[in-house]
Amino acid sequence: METVTGPSHRPPLVEVCRVEDIWDGEMASFRVHDFAILLVRLGGQFHAYDGRCPHQGAALVEGELSGAVLTCHAHHWQFDAVTGAGINPRKSCLKRLHLEIVEGKIRIEGLGG
Ligand code: FES
Repeated sequence: METVTGPSHRPPLVEVCRVEDIWDGEMASFRVHDFAILLVRLGGQFHAYDGRCPHQGAALVEGELSGAVLTCHAHHWQFDAVTGAGINPRKSCLKRLHLEIVEGKIRIEGLGG
C-alpha cells in the first residue's frame, strides 16, 4: 500500500485498491494502520467507513448488502450504506471516512494515523 501525505489537518491517505477492483453493489474490507476499513460501491459512488459495527464491533464486511441497506451479521442492525445513517436502530450510524480517487486509485483516510 502507498501512503500519501495529505494536508496537515488530515491524516495521511492510504491507497487500498483500484476503482475496477470493486463492482457496483459490492463491498470490501481493507486494513489500514491496523484498522478495518469498509469500502462500498453503490451507483458508481464509493463510500468508506470504519469497518467495525458501532454496536459491538463485528466486521461489517461479513454482513449483507442489499441495495443500499447494509445489515450487520451479528445482531442485524441496519445502516444506509450511502449515508452511513442508522436504519434500525435510527440512533446509530457508521463512522464515515474521507476518500479520494486519483488516477483510478482509491485512497482512504486511516483511522489510527
Ligand atoms: S455487532 Fe453489529 S449489530 Fe451487534
